Amino acid sequence: MYVPERVLTNQDLEKMVDTSDEWITQRTGIKERRIAAKDETSSSMGTIAGTRAVESAGIDAGEVDLVIVGTATPDYMFPATACLIQDNLGIRGGAFDVEAGCTSFMYALSTASCLAASGAYRNILVVGTEVLSRIMDWTDRSTCVLFGDGAGAVVVTPSEEGTFDPTFVLGADGSGGSALFLPAGGSFQPASSETVNQGLHTIRMAGPEVFRFATRVVVDSTREVMSRLALGPEDIDLFIPHQANERIIDSALKRLSFPAERCFLNIDRYGNTSSASIPIALCEAEKAGRLRAGATLLMVGFGAGLTWAAGAMQWQLTPASVSRPRATDSRELTPA
Ligand code: UT7
Repeated sequence: MYVPERVLTNQDLEKMVDTSDEWITQRTGIKERRIAAKDETSSSMGTIAGTRAVESAGIDAGEVDLVIVGTATPDYMFPATACLIQDNLGIRGGAFDVEAGCTSFMYALSTASCLAASGAYRNILVVGTEVLSRIMDWTDRSTCVLFGDGAGAVVVTPSEEGTFDPTFVLGADGSGGSALFLPAGGSFQPASSETVNQGLHTIRMAGPEVFRFATRVVVDSTREVMSRLALGPEDIDLFIPHQANERIIDSALKRLSFPAERCFLNIDRYGNTSSASIPIALCEAEKAGRLRAGATLLMVGFGAGLTWAAGAMQWQLTPASVSRPRATDSRELTPA
């Protein structure tokens, strides 16, 4: 994972908009978030997270044969952020982006999982990376207190181990698209002085509507994955939900009868980092020793689209990370 150095606290936000630490903490669970420096981008942060993931998998970047990036804040409309990261890491394999709002990482991970299982690819780098601070209306207190910047990455490899195959449920309801969207900058409403003057290049969100949607799909998709695998809450060692609002997570835990201690939470320190939230949480959970080999992991995300995705898998230490020395010759990073 990688997060920018600059911390923006709730107290800082009190000086920018009409809000309070008390409101933000009670309604969301967020205390602070990270904000990218001027020269940081989705690709530069994703490159650092990707380099760390490759090193931690114990492989060389040259062994990665595919890069999939989940992001709602790509550096450019094109080329894909995955191509920028592929070049920065010196990877020779294919590269493409997946865009499913905050669910992009889970969509990317499920795609990688199937491609690895098919035998077509051996080492797939999957990155979730976002600079949401660039598409924020910093005068809109209903959105600017929620989001933060960061990146997380994993390397997906085929495994013979485990008692069940990774299982994903992907969902979308396009009719809810207007509940969370970025009005201008695409081909429908290209950038113009008018769109800039009207502030149409920043996030629009119907918060309560998205809240109701999220509490429903987190529970339903998690139940569906567990039912496909005949697992109960007691079989899940670690639950990693998208970190958008602690109240959404609390409500889901209650309705799923999941013990809170098996759920990983870091929203207080990073806010909602969209596609980066699950891989950042995964990385911190692993560092905290909460992912032993063979642990059953369930992750669930939701976001713009509207989209959602849940996936269960068994955490494996790859043969590479056990038997091979760590790569030491990472290329110097050159943000695109
Ligand atoms: O990952 C992408 C998915 N996005 C989400 O998951 C977001 C889902 N939605 C939410 O998390 C919540 O709806 C919010 C945190 C965005 C808002 O919380 P809420 O409890 O739904 O509040 P609300 O929008 O119903 O607003 C309640 C009040 C309003 O004032 P009045 O009309 O009751 O006087 C808002 O103007 O809170 C006010 N408010 C604020 N007050 C202080 C809204 N934002 C703020 C703020 N500080 N930052």
